Amino acid sequence: MTDSTAEHVGVYAPPAEFVAGANVKADEYERADADYLSFWAEQSRELVDWNEDFGEVLDWSNPPFAQWFVGGKLNVAYNCLDRHVIAGNGDRVAINFEGEPGDSRTFTYAQLLAEVSKTANTLTDLGVRAGDRVAIYLPMIPETMISMLACARLGAAHSVVFGGFSSDALRSRIIDAEARVVITADGSYRRTKATSLKPAVDAALSHGDTSVETVLVVRRTGQDIDMVDGRDQWWHDAVETASPEHECEFFDSENPLFILYTSGTTGKPKGILHTSGGYLTQVLYSMKAVFDIKPESDVFWCTADVGWVTGHSYVTYGPLAAGVSQIVYEGTPDTPHQGRWWEIVEKYKATILYAAPTAIRTFMKWGEEIPEKYDLSSLRLLGSVGEPINPEAWRWYHRVIGGERCPIVDTWWQTETGAHMIAPLPGAMSTKPGSSQRSIPGISVDVVDDEGNSPAGPEGGLLVIRQPWPSMLRGIWKDPERFKETYWSRFEDTYFAGDGARRDEDGDIWFLGRVDDVMNVSGHRLSTTEIESSLVAHPYVAEAAVVGAADETSGQAVVGFVIVVDGVENTAETAAELRQHVGKDIGPIAKPKQVHIVSELPKTRSGKIMRRLLKDVAEHREVGDSSTLADSSVMDLIEESVAKS
Ligand code: WTA
Repeated sequence: MTDSTAEHVGVYAPPAEFVAGANVKADEYERADADYLSFWAEQSRELVDWNEDFGEVLDWSNPPFAQWFVGGKLNVAYNCLDRHVIAGNGDRVAINFEGEPGDSRTFTYAQLLAEVSKTANTLTDLGVRAGDRVAIYLPMIPETMISMLACARLGAAHSVVFGGFSSDALRSRIIDAEARVVITADGSYRRTKATSLKPAVDAALSHGDTSVETVLVVRRTGQDIDMVDGRDQWWHDAVETASPEHECEFFDSENPLFILYTSGTTGKPKGILHTSGGYLTQVLYSMKAVFDIKPESDVFWCTADVGWVTGHSYVTYGPLAAGVSQIVYEGTPDTPHQGRWWEIVEKYKATILYAAPTAIRTFMKWGEEIPEKYDLSSLRLLGSVGEPINPEAWRWYHRVIGGERCPIVDTWWQTETGAHMIAPLPGAMSTKPGSSQRSIPGISVDVVDDEGNSPAGPEGGLLVIRQPWPSMLRGIWKDPERFKETYWSRFEDTYFAGDGARRDEDGDIWFLGRVDDVMNVSGHRLSTTEIESSLVAHPYVAEAAVVGAADETSGQAVVGFVIVVDGVENTAETAAELRQHVGKDIGPIAKPKQVHIVSELPKTRSGKIMRRLLKDVAEHREVGDSSTLADSSVMDLIEESVAKS
């Protein structure tokens, strides 16, 4: 075990000026611990505009089904837009959009409100009502956020599907959520090329067996696409002509806000359901406490795609509800050159940057002389999310990007948790490279051993969450049993996160990666089972096993081991074909970095594949204990074929 005490890895004290101006000080922990329900009620009343106040703070009479801020009424989009305009901040920039080809657009809060109102009127004309679902399959353009907010305004839940997912992935999500409308674009720009999106929607709907009535299409690239008569409408025809006035209704605190599908341990993605009042409360609290947001002066930039939860909470809802100005960038960090991000920071004078460790490690590889060419002095706080950040990358981020003056908040959370759960408060403590440190005020986490005993030993154990929290998932869409089984069955009345963790001698939390069959590639969650199912669906493949192998840049990389059917040759072409197949089937992010064709897979006597041993092979380590294998010579055969491939 590595020594991770403060003395060993070092701690970094925030600048005195930062501490003096910080929104939240260290005494907040005690206040929250004294009575966490009163604490959250107080935060909610301070940060959220309720149209009707709530009564009970938490109804936990039917665990694990929580209701927060019972009986309260609000409109999430009103909180993100109208209230800022009413308060006289309508001229503040809400979104600085930077397109990959260099085009840019700016929306003030008043302009964004008008756009969202037009879209809400359009969706109403298309028959969308409170309680309906709308699928959003769009790139990182302002219309994506406008669409999400328009749904929220109407009390309809959105299901955003990451633009990098395939038509099959889109199709299964549309069907599961029974979406009435799909909002998409002709395409977007990636690495200077116009990539297409609309054909995937056409393919997803081609069987004519979904509940989709209308497809609304944003013109982004101008490429030729098919428009289906009676079903497809151009955004610029429908939305641009709609009225910019829209009187919003107020909905129950527990009204569904969105469904977001995420990978689980089985092949079928889970539709994580989030509702309104609790979600908005905790997202806003994290903007205040973790990001120390000052709406009048900050320029916030979360680089995540809106297709993931980070984009939901920290591109759309958090920054807009907080009323801050933000940056939204469409493209990749190396287009047209490797300094693109830093050019954007300089151009818009970003003050807070929130990114994934994979990106930081990539920039490290490209060399510090690239960011050094730009003026990054506007930055005052940095954030990290999605996977553990290794101390070396942390220090580089701190020194090269943060000029040794910006605290770094390493934020641990999940699609399921909705908002930050474990992160240092930058004005309240020194930060420690590689550790997310402690849970935010009002949140109770623990690290337990396999039997649920606390504390777990020095080697670590499983991360659990002891008390309900406002932005917790309310369930898995249409699958209450899976919700109970996945998160609440391992330990009684305690949320099981699926992450391994340990506390160091200072009590700070370090993450050890997932303990289930979920991989984390570049901060994106992928299921081993889902990729295995895709591989075995290919006619060449008889059996497949997939592991997430440690990778210097992406954290983990997908490595597949397959047994091919008779007659298929073990060649580089076969492996390439299988990699392509997964990329096409699920999406480019799921494409294995390597596929090894082997003659056997390591199985226990009961037939369970021992992925742990394959991981050893993929990570070029000596293979661990294989005594429970049905046939222990199998590992030699596998190692031989891998050496040859
Ligand atoms: C991992 C992304 C270590 C973790 C917000 C979690 C992290 C999964 C961190 C959720 C972090 C996220 N340090 N690990 N700061 N942040 N993770 O649902 O394994 O895409 O369970 O949410 O990412 O991924 P998800």
